[in-house]
Parts: sequence; structure tokens; C-alpha cells
Amino acid sequence: MTQHTQPHQAASSLWSSRLAFILAAAGSAVGLGNIWKFPYITGENGGGAFVLVYLVCIALIGVPVLIAETVIGRRGGQSPIATMRSLTGRDGAARGWRAIGWNGVVASFLVLSFYSVIGGWSLVYIGKAAAGVFTGADAEAIGAQFGALLANPWELLLWHSVFMALVILIVGRGIRSGLERAVNMLMPLLFVLLVAMVIYAMNTDGFARGVRFMFSPDFSKLTTEGVLVALGHAAFTLSIGIGVLMAYGSYLPTRVNIARTAVTIAVIDTGVALLAGLAIFPLVFANGLEPGSGPGLIFVTLPLAFGKMSGGVLFGAVFFVLLLVAAITSAISMLEPVVEWLEEHKGFSRARSALFGGLVIWFVGIGTVLSFNLWSDVHPLGFIAFFKDKTVFDLLDFLVSSLMMPLGSLAIALFAGWALGRQGLAEDIGLRGLSYRLFMVVLRYLTPAGIAVVFLYNLV
Ligand code: PHE
Repeated sequence: MTQHTQPHQAASSLWSSRLAFILAAAGSAVGLGNIWKFPYITGENGGGAFVLVYLVCIALIGVPVLIAETVIGRRGGQSPIATMRSLTGRDGAARGWRAIGWNGVVASFLVLSFYSVIGGWSLVYIGKAAAGVFTGADAEAIGAQFGALLANPWELLLWHSVFMALVILIVGRGIRSGLERAVNMLMPLLFVLLVAMVIYAMNTDGFARGVRFMFSPDFSKLTTEGVLVALGHAAFTLSIGIGVLMAYGSYLPTRVNIARTAVTIAVIDTGVALLAGLAIFPLVFANGLEPGSGPGLIFVTLPLAFGKMSGGVLFGAVFFVLLLVAAITSAISMLEPVVEWLEEHKGFSRARSALFGGLVIWFVGIGTVLSFNLWSDVHPLGFIAFFKDKTVFDLLDFLVSSLMMPLGSLAIALFAGWALGRQGLAEDIGLRGLSYRLFMVVLRYLTPAGIAVVFLYNLV
């Protein structure tokens, strides 16, 4: 096994085991993206065909980039920016590759600013579920509750603040303490609860329609922008392309097999998203709701089920607690590249970096808070037809999910495939012989070509 200079490879700052890294990387991957975002964008983009394209993107683009980014992070062993600097220096690659590091820090910063606002929604819904406000409520009443939340900027701001405070506290304390242990227990529980929700959905009369909506592809419903959204979501849901896995990989011991780990993470992540879809779409159809109704989808469907089932108060409250945990384990991974950068460049302590970075992100998040109420008619790029109806939140989401993450993934695939030193690469990835050669063909040609084609189609 090749040994590289790795500042983070001091024993105390490494993940305690392969399992710990899997759980943390899966914790980053599994989040609001799977349970909140995947169902609503699937609904907006017509269902089956979108899901199919998304799955192809996971396999062809997501997994290879997940592997490449983690390998880069482990080799560099520092923040994404410093890692890119030292690897380009060592392997004599062009300086332009360093943009990968910058893109990562800026994108993690931006994505957390809106992610935290949605994380706040799950906080609100823990309270609502526990107070029993869903019991016996019909679709209209539940939709009205969600509408009232969005209409109230102060309430959104409050919960956005609480969410960010939690993230700052956890990240400020260091990556090992607390985090690993909490994730260990709670993520499997989330999985169990989702399965229970799917079983509930099986007993509604919308199940067959829900399954058909998700899995029978009708390509006439898929637009070229929909394909871009599917690609972007494959990157978003695996947390790739913006340095998060580079940052996490920098704490990974050299003996861990990255290829196997990456596949495990992708399977878990995709499994959770599909379960969430199977839990939600049957409820959408059974209650005559609109699958394309947007970001509120899970908040207006799941509460209906909680309101009807026996034990729904407890079940609903636990579900939203777990959604919150999933959101937090993702959010802390977004803050990580920013914190590492502040530690290195500004010489701040970890706690100070988390506080300073977190506060600036919190401030930017106010733009998203207002997008759902006071600024709901503000379309900053409205003069461009494509962005006509996009609010500040829509634009941030588009910028990060549809541009920075897929383009960052493209750059990472190209860098790892073409510019990264080959010596010891097969061992670093954890593949040998034919499987290594096949993997390199995918990484060097298919992955970049796949991303490029989607972008070209969207430009013309
Ligand atoms: N993968 C996370 C989710 O699905 C979101 C995320 C994006 C996390 C970017 C880290 C970086 O919720």
C-alpha cells in the first residue's frame, strides 16, 4: 500500500473503523435529499422516466465520482483546497484543477444555507406530530398548516436558527465525539421506520398507482431540464462533487477499501430514496393530491398517514426526529470543508471556525427563508426566460445542485482519471486487474461523457 504524506493521518483524527467511515459518509449522503427532495422532484418531473435516468446517473456517474473523490481526499489528507494544491503540485498537474477545491468550499457553503431552512421544517414537524395536530385532519387541513408555516418568515427564521445552532455545536466539538455514536444507532432506525411507512402505504388504495408512477417510465414526460435535475440529484444525494467526501476521505485510514465502501454507501442511499418514494406516492394518489406540488410534498402527505394510523402521534414524532437526525448528519458534512478551510487559512480553532462559518451561512440562509413568503414573487434572474419563475431558493438550489455539483463531479472524474499520479492508484481504489481497468475506462470516458452530454443538451 502506498504511503502519502497525510496531515490527518495521525491516529487520533482518523475514523475509528471502516464502519465508522461508512456510517459518516452514508450519514452525509442520506438526508433531506432522499426523503424530502427525491420524492418532490420525481413528482415534478413525471415519475418513472426521471427515476430511471436518476438510477443510471447513480451507477455511471455517482459511484465512480464517489470513489474518485474519496481517493483524492485520502491522498491529500487536508481541506479540499489544500488537498488539490498539494496533489496538483506533487503530480505536476495544471493549476486549474485547484478550482475543484474552491468550487467545493463555495458550494458546501451555499447548499447549507438553504438546507438548514428545510432542516428547520423538520424541527417544526416534530412538534406538530407530538402535539397530535394531524390526528383526524384531512388533506386540506394539513396542506393549510404547511402553507401557514411557509407564510411566516419569523417562524422559519427561528427554526433555521435552531438548526444551524445544532450544526455549529456538533461540528465545533470535533468530528469523532458524539457524531459517530449517534449516527450508529439512529440511521438504521430511520430505515426501519421507512419500511414501516411503506407497509402502511401498501394498505392504501393508492399503492399500485404509486408504484406505477415511480417505476413505469413514460419518456414523453421527461424534459431535458428534467435530465439535468436527475443528474444533479444523483450528485446531491451522494454528496459528491463539492469536496465533502474529500474532506471526509482525508480522515480515512489507508487500509480501507474505497471501492467496496462507495458501493455500500450508494446502495444504502438509493435504497432510502426509493423507500421514501414508495411511502409517499401511494399516499399522494390515495388522497387525490398532486405529485408535482413541489417542496412541501412530504410535509403534506406523511402527516395524513400519521393522522390516520393508530399510534400515529408517537410514530410521526419519531419519524420527524429521525428526519432531523438525517438532515443534521448531512448538514455537518457540508460545514466540514468550510471549517477545514478556515482552520488552515485563517488559523482559527475548530470551534471558532464552526461558529464563524456557521454564522455567515445562517445569514445567507435568510434569502431562502424569505423565498417562501415576502420574496415569493422576487425572481432575481427573471429577465432570463429559463429562470423566469425562480426564487432565491430555486436559484441557489439550481446553482448548487444542477451546476456546481455535477460540474465539480466532472472535474473530479477528469482529474482522477487523467491527472492524478497512477502509482498505487489501483490499491488506493481497492480494485485489481480487470475490474480496475474497467473502472478506469468508466471514470476516464463514460462518466465525463455522461455529464457532458447532459449539459450540452441543456445548452442547445
Ligand atoms: N446528500 C445530502 C442529502 O441527500 C445532501 C448533501 C449535499 C450533503 C451536498 C452534503 C453535500 O440530503
